[in-house]
Amino acid sequence: MSSTPLKTLDGKVALVTGASSGIGRASALELARRGAKVIASARNADALESLVAEIRHGGFEATAVRADINDEQDVIRIVERTVATYGRIDVAFNNAGTEGAFSPFIDQTNETYDTIFNANVRGVFWSMKHEAKAMLAQGSGTIINNASMGGVIGFANAGLYIASKHAVLGLTKTASIEWFRQGVRVNAICPGLIDTPFQDRVWPSRQAKDEFGAASVAGRMGSAEEMARVVAFLASDDSTFVSGHGLLADAGYVIA
Ligand SMILES: NC(=O)c1ccc[n+]([C@@H]2O[C@H](COP(=O)([O-])OP(=O)(O)OC[C@H]3O[C@@H](n4cnc5c(N)ncnc54)[C@H](O)[C@@H]3O)[C@@H](O)[C@H]2O)c1
Repeated sequence: MSSTPLKTLDGKVALVTGASSGIGRASALELARRGAKVIASARNADALESLVAEIRHGGFEATAVRADINDEQDVIRIVERTVATYGRIDVAFNNAGTEGAFSPFIDQTNETYDTIFNANVRGVFWSMKHEAKAMLAQGSGTIINNASMGGVIGFANAGLYIASKHAVLGLTKTASIEWFRQGVRVNAICPGLIDTPFQDRVWPSRQAKDEFGAASVAGRMGSAEEMARVVAFLASDDSTFVSGHGLLADAGYVIA
């Protein structure tokens, strides 16, 4: 992990959920690199420890907290640990989410509904609620939800996932209206096709995944690091008048 002069988050405390892999891991690294003290949360304790070791090896600060966002008590505990460890919570990146199982609409099941909505909507709702309680009490903070370009368009065979990401944008807009005057901004990123373990699970082979990316308007999938820099912008004071926004980071997929 290399250092950077861009200390746009110096002195801030940032919580990242789903930090064990993909966009969450890259974002935890990027926020730490920019000066934030990071609470890295996910279910996989080993992956979290290796992330925290990498951040500390780079000379930055992070703490791991194992938690499942499907459990409200875990969500409460992450926020409490953040405040207990670093004294405040300035940034929360609610990234943890799941694709569940992609299949034609009429084959989607109640189990898939529960898997997807419990993590992507209920987990994000709980996260926002408990993070905001702490942020409103301190009079400042910025929440960033990981939605998807699937929050603004449809995709065949992903009906429940798409509906869950539309819901994330609904939560984002509503909370922004309620909290902005009290110092708390709420935004979402809407990633396009990003080359993470998520896409590895969606496609039957590496070749199928690469071909889909190559056929898209960008000619490739994006990287987790490219998303992390978007998260860092929304986390920073460079975006103080940006709130209630779903920031498409899709290289034009939606407009093509
Ligand atoms: N990769 C893409 O193309 C893409 C596009 C748009 C949006 N997204 C969104 O980005 C987010 C991150 O996905 P990714 O692409 O990095 O994939 P990923 O599978 O690498 O990361 C998902 C992370 O969420 C965690 N997670 C899932 N359920 C959890 C739970 N109940 N409690 C705690 N952690 C949980 C996983 O353990 C993992 O750390 C997701 O919300 C996903 O919907 C991804």
